[in-house]
Amino acid sequence: MSDEDIRIGVFVCDCGTNIAGVVDVPAVVAFARGLEHVVLADEGRWSCSVDYLSKMQDLIRENEINRVVVASCTPRTHEPLFKRTTKEAGVNPYLLEFVSIREQVSWVHMKEPEIATEKAKDLVKMGVAKAALLEEGQEIRLPVKTDCLIIGGGMAGMNAALSVADQGFNAYIVEKEPELGGVLNQICFISHDNHKSPAARVIKARADQVRSHPRIKIFTDTQVDKVDGYIGSYTVTLKTNGDESEQNLDISTIIVATGMQEIEPADQFEYGNDPRIITQLQLDNKLKFKQLGDVKNVVMVSCVNSKNETRGCCNIGCHTSVKNAVAIKQLCPDADVHILYRDMSLIKEEGTAQQLAKRLGVKFLRFPDDRYPEVRKQNGDLKVKIYDLLVGKEFELLSDLVVLSTAFKGNNSVEQVKGLLKVSTNPDGFFQESHVKLGPLEFATDGISLAGCAKAPMTFRESSEEGIGAAMKASIPMQKGYIETEGIVADIDLTDCSQCGLCSKRCPYSAIKVDAEENPDVIKALCKGCGLCAADCPNECIGIVHYSDDQVFAQVEAALEKAPAEKIIAYVCHWCALGGVDMAGVSRLQYPSNARLIRVMCSARVSMKMMQRPFELGAAGVLVAGCEFPTCHYIEGNYAAEKRLKRAQKKLAKAGFDPEKLWNVWCSAADGPKFANTMRTMIQDLGL
Ligand code: FES
Repeated sequence: MSDEDIRIGVFVCDCGTNIAGVVDVPAVVAFARGLEHVVLADEGRWSCSVDYLSKMQDLIRENEINRVVVASCTPRTHEPLFKRTTKEAGVNPYLLEFVSIREQVSWVHMKEPEIATEKAKDLVKMGVAKAALLEEGQEIRLPVKTDCLIIGGGMAGMNAALSVADQGFNAYIVEKEPELGGVLNQICFISHDNHKSPAARVIKARADQVRSHPRIKIFTDTQVDKVDGYIGSYTVTLKTNGDESEQNLDISTIIVATGMQEIEPADQFEYGNDPRIITQLQLDNKLKFKQLGDVKNVVMVSCVNSKNETRGCCNIGCHTSVKNAVAIKQLCPDADVHILYRDMSLIKEEGTAQQLAKRLGVKFLRFPDDRYPEVRKQNGDLKVKIYDLLVGKEFELLSDLVVLSTAFKGNNSVEQVKGLLKVSTNPDGFFQESHVKLGPLEFATDGISLAGCAKAPMTFRESSEEGIGAAMKASIPMQKGYIETEGIVADIDLTDCSQCGLCSKRCPYSAIKVDAEENPDVIKALCKGCGLCAADCPNECIGIVHYSDDQVFAQVEAALEKAPAEKIIAYVCHWCALGGVDMAGVSRLQYPSNARLIRVMCSARVSMKMMQRPFELGAAGVLVAGCEFPTCHYIEGNYAAEKRLKRAQKKLAKAGFDPEKLWNVWCSAADGPKFANTMRTMIQDLGL
């Protein structure tokens, strides 16, 4: 489209008095009319009302508008509505630019109407400058068929398979052990309600269901050897132990349910030096095979290798120790059983189990965080010294069985599966979900779900439920028959590409593949548009739809056209950082008006050049605002941004700019005060 063909319509909202009570909206509208490419500017009392949306559509059609700028509240709540309106008026919704003059202006500069009006004009000018460069985009679809691979045949995996198959899809369970059941095979009872809950019976019942289901195929003693492709189109190669031949499966979605294993204590509590010192799983095994013998004094020690500087709560230690203490008391009623604990973390039903244990005579002694019990051998006897926090005294307990409630880590297949699927793990050796709250049952990569103890230690019930949850997650695209993603994606221009492969390595979603000629190619359906690849590409040959370098620089230039030395360019991620900005607005926190905000999807999009360009144009400072650690909506974009900021500071210094003027803030969507305070401190430090 030539320059003359660009026809921009600007719609400025009063939001009742929310905006118009502070900002001189008619002045902003008049200002907008004078901007290049603007063919119409209009004021709407309530722009999101049905009446005004319909008027907006008429104005778009009558004036042959092909780019739209809406200046109103926040894109986080209203952008989808205006996109729909624009689309219905015949304009591609990617040709809409949203400018926030309520949360970023009228609500936070309430006592300075003139300054607020000038800032609103600047933001509209920036929006128009970007809109002139916008290009059409479209949602992307990939077909998804109905075959689901489940890696791991424990309780979560079996439940996932049953749930998938019951919905009419095909499920393939791959279990590396000869038997289904996973870690449950090592357990005697699944709860304190022993007689109703022998684990072997539970496993058998579920395994029988799985084996007899016509839509489930089971591969035991088998490992996944290779995975190629992406959601809807995986080719998975299986290898059965002791068999050289391979099998290939065409798979649409994958569920990882690989389970967990106990971490054996190393040189602690005399473990390994005496067969009477064992772990909870080893005790379970003795109970299962009736090898407990005639025990008289059992001492259990909780929180071994967990709840410390390197590892969190093991989640199931309290539950397991109470459950097994009950089992011992029921087998050997005369045995003395002590549970030495730091904190008892039990949910409601487990509290009932603890009451039962107490009634059966199990004694609970609490020790301080920094004074763990000590186990020692004396003349063949095992003795456990404990400082009882509640009575403030030290005791020595004689014991003929010491049971350690140790921490867990992911199953020993974690590293292999991680490499095959290119997914993340956490420092505790478990798989890492995409987001604790927003994506607890999935990886960041589309089409791969996660369930049960592959993610963290869980009780039988939690793990079983997670299996069903992960199956539901995997079923959504299989049910729809396709996956659709937003059109904000990366686009590679190979003209200047040096085939360094950095983009492919850096992409958190494995969305950039390198072909046989080493040319990178974006699988658009997998790309989330975070912009990390574009910001890191040494040859600047990657563009991001709606957030291209040109569009961002146009905003920077528009913002700094006048009085640059008084202004800060603030790059703000669309998620938590913009949420924080909006929260400051909603809370009416008043802060200096110097910042001109530029929205990016993730802080990872902000390239070194974007950090430097404002300084070249005379800006007083630059701020990069992203999500609080460890959450970023694109896995680790904020970590990448933080590293880049450090490099940028060195580069700025070399280029003769003051690196101290490049700031960053990582805030949560609820943290309006943090953003407002950053603004105040920054203005003070920059001497504005
Ligand atoms: Fe906020 Fe990545 S989405 S920093």
